[in-house]
Amino acid sequence: MSHHLRLGVNIDHVATIRNARGGLHPDPVRAALLAAEAGADGITAHLREDRRHITDADLDALIGSISLPLNLEMAATDEMLGIALKHRPHAACIVPERRAERTTEGGLDAAGQHNTLAPIIARLQDAGIRVSLFIAPDLHQLEAAAKLGAPVVELHTGPYSHALADADVAAELARLHRAAEHGASLGLEMHAGHGLTFDNVGPIAAMPQLAELNIGHFLIGEAVFTGLGPAIARMRAAMDAARA
Ligand code: PXP
Repeated sequence: MSHHLRLGVNIDHVATIRNARGGLHPDPVRAALLAAEAGADGITAHLREDRRHITDADLDALIGSISLPLNLEMAATDEMLGIALKHRPHAACIVPERRAERTTEGGLDAAGQHNTLAPIIARLQDAGIRVSLFIAPDLHQLEAAAKLGAPVVELHTGPYSHALADADVAAELARLHRAAEHGASLGLEMHAGHGLTFDNVGPIAAMPQLAELNIGHFLIGEAVFTGLGPAIARMRAAMDAARA
């Protein structure tokens, strides 16, 4: 049996629902506290440049209330760097927000953006924040991430999650496998996420190189039907079953 696979629960879409009305309900901090009780190992939140889901006030409240490690997803901008340095989350995952920052597969263009990313990664690391880069399962991007000195990469599972034909699913899984192996051989801590569900998490959770999955949208949607605690517990069980 391989080491424990951490589950980071992304609470952004609790804020999306709240923001549809304004006001205070549902509260992403309450979701984060419930996620901790239900077996999450970390809380993930993406403070977007457009503040589409969580807000600066949510981030303040999360930092003040949760005991789990916070993984702040952020664009590689001076504004977000300043916010990260002020709050000092456990981890910061750099994600692309604009077209020019991403590869065709939707991950961060770690290779093409080297000169933008290098100083931001250095400042985050100097502040003791564990940096991860959200990249496509592409060997070239993995090598660029290693060259940038990022200790962690998160593999983008979106294309795998969205694939419909069996052959496409198999091809995306094969790419993820190769990337997980190659990243581990470069000494990178490997995470994965985007679009994961009860039905598609198994083959990802089974990859022994992975240390953490970050899952949000499906869990918040499923919470409508079963409640957030049971949805997280079922995801945890599906991950453990795949690892056993
Ligand atoms: N990982 C990263 C880097 C992300 O940007 C997201 C989406 O915010 C996720 C994981 C979670 O994806 P989903 O909400 O589809 O589970």
